[in-house]
Amino acid sequence: MKLRVSVIGTGYLGATHAACMSAMGFDVIGVDIDATKIELLSRGKVPFYEPGLEELLQQEIASGRLTFSTDFQAIKEADVHFICVGTPQSENSLAADMKYVDAALDAIAPICKPGSLVVGKSTVPVGTAARLRSKLLTINPKVDLAWNPEFLREGFAVEDTLHPNRLVVGVTTDEAENKLKAIYAKNLSENTPWVRADLPTSELVKVAANSFLATKISFINAMAEVCEAAGGDVTVLAKAIGYDPRIGSRFLQAGIGFGGGCLPKDIRAFMARAGELGADQALEFLREIDSINLRARQRVIELVRKDLSDNLTGKKITVLGAAFKPDSDDVRDSPALDIAVQIAAAGAQVTIHDPKAIAPAKKRFPALGFAEDVEVALKGADLVLHLTEWKQYRELDPVKVKALVASPIIIDGRNALDREAWIAAGWKFRALGRS
Ligand code: UGA
Repeated sequence: MKLRVSVIGTGYLGATHAACMSAMGFDVIGVDIDATKIELLSRGKVPFYEPGLEELLQQEIASGRLTFSTDFQAIKEADVHFICVGTPQSENSLAADMKYVDAALDAIAPICKPGSLVVGKSTVPVGTAARLRSKLLTINPKVDLAWNPEFLREGFAVEDTLHPNRLVVGVTTDEAENKLKAIYAKNLSENTPWVRADLPTSELVKVAANSFLATKISFINAMAEVCEAAGGDVTVLAKAIGYDPRIGSRFLQAGIGFGGGCLPKDIRAFMARAGELGADQALEFLREIDSINLRARQRVIELVRKDLSDNLTGKKITVLGAAFKPDSDDVRDSPALDIAVQIAAAGAQVTIHDPKAIAPAKKRFPALGFAEDVEVALKGADLVLHLTEWKQYRELDPVKVKALVASPIIIDGRNALDREAWIAAGWKFRALGRS
């Protein structure tokens, strides 16, 4: 029997998951309370930038397998319901705000058909799945709940969903595991590693993975601070330690650190949850990971002051990049945008360029200066800050850019530019962790 799938929450994770489930051959209904989002998705438009997703969405809508609705009753016929709603940081604490997850479960619990399986994909504090499962069983005893964390990266969301590097399922029964095996049959046939876990472990896998990645980034940024103090070069250091396969070279790019809608809030929510469980000491180090990360932003601002003046009033600064990372228009907790906001607050005249994220950045900070054209952004700059490593910026010709600016000073906040080429073109080149 062909399984029918519902996806509750059609944001970043949900929209991608729905399109990919459809591409795997399932009939999929995506539901969301946001009528604008549903209207756009129904027309084959993705409300954010994600390479390849819009093409896939249009292809799957045309296939007739993928539909969207604001009416939750539409999930009634589905055999598997994926909860993909957001869990942002709470307004008044480090903990995750669970209101969307709870609302999603409350909406579907009474109408799930008997024998169907609810599968949580959202990143949640450990203990949530068990709590939701008992709530669900009280309302609707003929359904079950499993957890199946998501590891997709923005910018690679389609590829990561269609070909994940592992599948982790938190289940309490063999039936639930078998149903998930049927859902992921294609991945299993490609030998994707399959990890069966209990509910709490499956929830922990996700936050542990993100905490490890955050730790790796802050580790190399801590080394960058030491390199600066000792006259070393963190890019060479990273390359050298990365050759050790036990360490690995990925996520050792020193710079202004991690941002986005996941790593920062996940490590904070993890600390908050560990505190509730009486295990706060175990995650005390994550506080330091967070501080190192935020300190990198301040170090760039210190470099700006060193190169220009303590008083930034009226200084023209061009910021290259607003997104939290390249190939994304996501500006949530973006280190680039945070730095731009802080130097603008210090009096500088900031012009921000980004290939994709100007609209969302402008929406958040309408008072900042933006330019759609990179050359316009660079014109007359007293200093250039390279803060999101888009390919377009790596391809800039330092000789041509020098002719546009008022003063050839550049700070590479991502250690991604060709330093020698910029210096050869007559630039004063600064970077974090390189003397
Ligand atoms: C992250 C994880 O990588 C995914 O596995 C996870 O599924 C996702 O969060 C999530 O929880 O949903 P993402 O937020 O898309 O994915 O971004 P990353 O690629 O992890 O990058 C995070 C930040 O770290 C970016 O700001 C990036 O610029 C920064 N970074 C990354 C560095 O500063 N240095 C590096 O070496 C690597």
